[in-house]
Amino acid sequence: MTQDELKQAVARAAIDYVVDGEIIGVGTGSTANFFIDELGLIKHRIQGAVASSEATAARLAGHGIPVFDLNEVERIAVYIDGADEITHAGAMIKGGGAALTREKIVASVSGQFVCIADGSKLVDTLGKFALPVEVLPMARNAVLRQLAALGGQPKVRTKPGSDEAFVTDNGGNIIDVAGLAIADPVALETQINQIVGVVAVGLFAARGANVCLLGTADGVRTLK
Ligand code: 5RP
Repeated sequence: MTQDELKQAVARAAIDYVVDGEIIGVGTGSTANFFIDELGLIKHRIQGAVASSEATAARLAGHGIPVFDLNEVERIAVYIDGADEITHAGAMIKGGGAALTREKIVASVSGQFVCIADGSKLVDTLGKFALPVEVLPMARNAVLRQLAALGGQPKVRTKPGSDEAFVTDNGGNIIDVAGLAIADPVALETQINQIVGVVAVGLFAARGANVCLLGTADGVRTLK
């Protein structure tokens, strides 16, 4: 099976976690896109969705799924999203698609986080994938120096084909920190959150995934 077929399989399996009559939290990225396409097929069963990025909002709307602003919504039963890395305990690195801040916000008000990922994302220790950190633009270099002091190699993410800093949906910039072996994800998440100028860190450990649907050659594995 190709990686896309594995992503499609977990996206389809995630439909079992959609709660009828509810508003669903929807993540960002290629796996989340497959999920949105599946959600489009059962859209009559849900009230609508809260999106974790402008791209996701546009794809949901393209399927005719009502998109709610989070401020209009009191509770979200389930949040479904991909990950760049996930451990057996459900701690994740996210933000490869630069949507980490909104993803974290929507996840924080959701009853259950269902991670959908192809098997390559399962790791014993987080950190091989460079850890994304969203920062306020004026604090970019100040935060970069503090992240360097943690031992990794931080680098400002740039726009494709340009030297200019990439700009997120929130007007922030992203610093990707390579070379970390994250032994204690909750402690590092807490530590990076304390740096002034950080908007959000792409470690989802204090609040990780409740369930992970993992696409493998033998089928979809469920990790809880
Ligand atoms: C976006 C994310 C994505 O969930 C993560 O990058 C995985 O993406 P994909 O499903 O394309 O592999 O965190 O900010």
